Amino acid sequence: MAHRKVAPDVIAGRDPRAMKHTLAISGIVLATGAWFLLRAGGSDVKSGSPSLARSEVEKKILTVLEDMVRSQKTYLSVPVKDGKALRVLTEAAAAKNVVEIGTSTGYSGLWFCLALQGTEGHLTTFEIDRGRATIAREHFKQAGVERMVTIVEGDAHQELAKLKLTIDVAFIDADKGGYVDYLNKLLPLVRPGGLILAHNVEMVPDYVKAVSTNAELESIFYMEGGGLSVTLKKR
Ligand SMILES: C[S@@+](CC[C@H](N)C(=O)[O-])C[C@H]1O[C@@H](n2cnc3c(N)ncnc32)[C@H](O)[C@@H]1O
Repeated sequence: MAHRKVAPDVIAGRDPRAMKHTLAISGIVLATGAWFLLRAGGSDVKSGSPSLARSEVEKKILTVLEDMVRSQKTYLSVPVKDGKALRVLTEAAAAKNVVEIGTSTGYSGLWFCLALQGTEGHLTTFEIDRGRATIAREHFKQAGVERMVTIVEGDAHQELAKLKLTIDVAFIDADKGGYVDYLNKLLPLVRPGGLILAHNVEMVPDYVKAVSTNAELESIFYMEGGGLSVTLKKR
């Protein structure tokens, strides 16, 4: 079980002068980064500054999130940067109903719960793997959010057809070949002004095309984490 790997950085050219220049700039960047790290109390550059708990409820969820990473009880989970983005977007949308395709062990779900405990909302999350669904259920319980979450076990392509909800925020993070099918099934349920988010969009060009060529939608792409598309269903 591990966090998703980030794509390797671009490798510098072989020209010695360019190399020297690159090394000098790298030195400045590293020194500045180290200074900021010290000032920030040692936070991880890759994940940004740590989330600070405002309440006991938040603290409990954040503790489980940290434990999951420490004990490697994640499976292809979103990086922290995307977890934070999910929380920020959900809370800003004052979402009451979030639907997630691809629960895994509940890591991204807990980021949604950080927002939903503020909006008094609910997460419905789909997972085909029984073992991972069981672990996710345990994590939601440890975080004290089990009443905020419904895990639907089974193939989301079929289970989604049974869903009768007005969705404020949908998040697609499962089988890449299924993204466009998920989009087509979710779109009629998403309220005007609602959001459809999708992860690892670099791996799914047909999905990117679908959300970029539909006049009913407006999409942006946040590539600092694992590649998150944010699509607005226009009013
Ligand atoms: C990338 S992981 C999800 C990571 C999770 N969102 C997180 O950040 O913690 C993808 C998950 O989707 C599940 N999955 C794949 N195909 C599915 C399907 N057809 N229906 C439901 N879940 C599916 C996999 O079993 C896997 O646990």
